[in-house]
Amino acid sequence: TAGGTREPVCPVRFLGNRSSGKQGHALAAEASSRGAQVVCVTTEPALAPDRLGVKVVAVETAAQMATKVLERSGDVDIVLMAAAVADFRPVQVADHKIKKDSGISEIRLEPTVDILAELGRTRLPGQVLVGFAAETGELRQNAAAKLQAKGVDLIVANDVSLPEVGFEHDTNAVVLLGADGGLTEVPLCAKREVARVVIDKALNIHQTNFDTSAQISNGDDK
Ligand code: CTP
Repeated sequence: TAGGTREPVCPVRFLGNRSSGKQGHALAAEASSRGAQVVCVTTEPALAPDRLGVKVVAVETAAQMATKVLERSGDVDIVLMAAAVADFRPVQVADHKIKKDSGISEIRLEPTVDILAELGRTRLPGQVLVGFAAETGELRQNAAAKLQAKGVDLIVANDVSLPEVGFEHDTNAVVLLGADGGLTEVPLCAKREVARVVIDKALNIHQTNFDTSAQISNGDDK
């Protein structure tokens, strides 16, 4: 997944975030260049990689992203959940433009579905789940908490308060934290380079899962 979801307030306004979709699209391009069949569910379809092997699915809201991801999740080996998904959305969406003269509006919010946590609860045997964490401090602690809470194999965390890191930039600097306790630091580099490291790790985990299930079916674990 890629981009930041937009939660409508009225026909002209939304609640959004600063995600550009660049890291998610770099992952889609990298996976496709290695021969994967990729479905890229994105809020920025015009900027998604335009190449054979990448099916682009356009969405706007967290609810739409949840539907498009969860309806396909039974068919995928690796999920890379790079999108910045809104955690809350307006309870009511006005059907007309909210006018200034009506005074200061109050917007009541309700939670959205946590797509990654839902994937963690329903995952298929052998499937690899990779989450991302956009933080402004305590990177490792926050990443470790998300790894645990969402039941995923790998969290890719970045500190978006650092220069040239994360939202809107072409570069990123990340820490990869694995469910196996492994920690990898990727210093500031192009988002495509981050994508290479993340996909290498995800493929390693996939291979390990595959080897483990082959051993179990051969009875090698006895
Ligand atoms: N995520 C998701 N569905 C949501 C919110 C987040 O699938 N409703 C996924 C993101 O795509 C990302 C991971 O969960 O892979 C972590 O997202 P992040 O925004 O960093 O964390 P949150 O769980 O939203 O927690 P917080 O905002 O408190 O840091």
